[in-house]
Amino acid sequence: MGNRVSNWFKERINMEDLPFFRTPDYMYHVGDWLGALVAAAFFYTVISGLIILLYYDPAAGYQSTETIINKVPYGSVVLYSHLYGAYAMIILAFVHMFRNYFVGAYKKPREIVWILGVLMLALTLGASFLGYSLIGDVLAVSAVDVGAGILGSLGLSSLVPILFGNYSAGDYTRVLAMHIILVALIGLLFLIHFFLADLQYGMMPSRKVKDKAPAVYPKSEWQKFNPWWPRNFIYMMSLIFLTWGFILIIPNALVYFTFPQIANPFLNPKPAPPPNSPAAATVTTYPPWFFLFVYKIADFPGSVLVDMTIALFIPLIYLLVVPFIDRSPYLHPLKRRVFTWIGILMMIYLIQSSLWGDLAPGVPVSMSEILEVYLPPAIITGLGIFLIPWEKVSKGLSKGMSNPPTMLAFTFVTLAFASSMIYFLTTLSLASLATVISLGSIFVILAKLLTPYVMRAQQDENAVSVEEASKVLEKKKRIAQIIMIILFIVAIPIVVTMWTIPPTGYYSNLFGVDLGVLFLILGEEFSLYHYVVYKKPVEKEE
Ligand code: HEM
Repeated sequence: MGNRVSNWFKERINMEDLPFFRTPDYMYHVGDWLGALVAAAFFYTVISGLIILLYYDPAAGYQSTETIINKVPYGSVVLYSHLYGAYAMIILAFVHMFRNYFVGAYKKPREIVWILGVLMLALTLGASFLGYSLIGDVLAVSAVDVGAGILGSLGLSSLVPILFGNYSAGDYTRVLAMHIILVALIGLLFLIHFFLADLQYGMMPSRKVKDKAPAVYPKSEWQKFNPWWPRNFIYMMSLIFLTWGFILIIPNALVYFTFPQIANPFLNPKPAPPPNSPAAATVTTYPPWFFLFVYKIADFPGSVLVDMTIALFIPLIYLLVVPFIDRSPYLHPLKRRVFTWIGILMMIYLIQSSLWGDLAPGVPVSMSEILEVYLPPAIITGLGIFLIPWEKVSKGLSKGMSNPPTMLAFTFVTLAFASSMIYFLTTLSLASLATVISLGSIFVILAKLLTPYVMRAQQDENAVSVEEASKVLEKKKRIAQIIMIILFIVAIPIVVTMWTIPPTGYYSNLFGVDLGVLFLILGEEFSLYHYVVYKKPVEKEE
């Protein structure tokens, strides 16, 4: 049956000849498909946004948000998951970017793909900020007030009416227009980004195949890989449904909890009271979590221009030009240590500043506090990256795990990391957090370096012939088939009962949780089907 459907499409649309990138067996690994996860979150957010658009009235932002939540059937399910679709897209876009940064995917010939990605991330943050403002609650108004204030201090107050219109009177028409324009721009850039990444160069080969830029498979080699249809399609469907499942389940479950103030920016999907209401006076306002870092850096001494240069302009410009300043052809992060160091610091500073913004919003910061928070990560990761003789460690590893310098380095870093955790848990200060994160990053690099050797040692120990590997795989496939049947059975009562959930009111969000679980099951079914049909006993990185 499956084959007949597949052949039907193959014949009609010439699926096998689609010019998409052909994929080697070893690349069906989520790390190579992070962009697809971002795209899945993007599509979910666009679809749910279009549904919300049918009911949202920008001239009465807050009231229509309330109507969608309380009166429109499943309105709150769609609205909260729209918000979390955007959150997922931001988080996944950062993960996708840092992953590509550390594997050197910004190098020749992918410079344009990278630059488009940076622009898309900036647009995603902008579109999310505008979307957050559309709620029209006291948080939204205060966030836009601060944004407008920053623009004013930069001498750009003429942009305020263009970007935000008459938001202070509850009219969000302009904000909605800008929100949609930015999303359309993301969609447009995505087409070019995807066209270049997938059709022109193909995904980055493993470093074992190409350790230097330009890292591409010659087109002649592509021919031996798997065509896009049907394998990539099936794998992609599993990723899409799994992403959509989480986007639906998380906010619709979180609705039933109340959180302490510090967790609110990250976990609370519900709107706050309307501005100028008595209830609004009792609310401690906070910006959307993805701009907490900017709001905290705005508390630094110095002018707003200096603060924004530190928070936004320098990182943005750095990311745009990094393909042109990192001239080393090597892809391995430890063969371009300065850039690796900068990348790690960017990640640490982003997390630290966001947490700081959450813990002490709007509290002015002194120079000594800045040094206390930002200097330890720079020193610790710098020492770790530049002083540890990584080449010797690698060579030591290839000789065996018991090599004394390697074991000493790993033991030392592990102990230091564990002590920093105790230090953090006993002091709960930003300085101790800085220490634990930076030692943690060195620990992760070392552990990542060690893992393949540990795995290889294990594989050598239980070295098996191809026939034996095939037998083991066959057994696993049979288990996978049984799980597929169980999941199908579990899905039946969920489908049957979810329609009994009332479409509005307190319990309506359980529908979102149920739908999310169904998406997870569907995603898992696709993933298991992919495993059963395509998994080979030995998949070499060729
Ligand atoms: C914001 C929305 C984004 C979407 C929807 C998106 C989507 C994609 C997709 C579908 C691919 C194909 C390979 C894969 O699935 O990973 C890809 C590749 C790529 N993306 Fe993105 N991306 C986004 C943001 C970014 C950002 C922020 C960067 C970096 C600054 C970036 C840099 C790249 C690079 C360098 C590749 C090629 C990687 C390779 O060949 O292995 N993208 N992206």
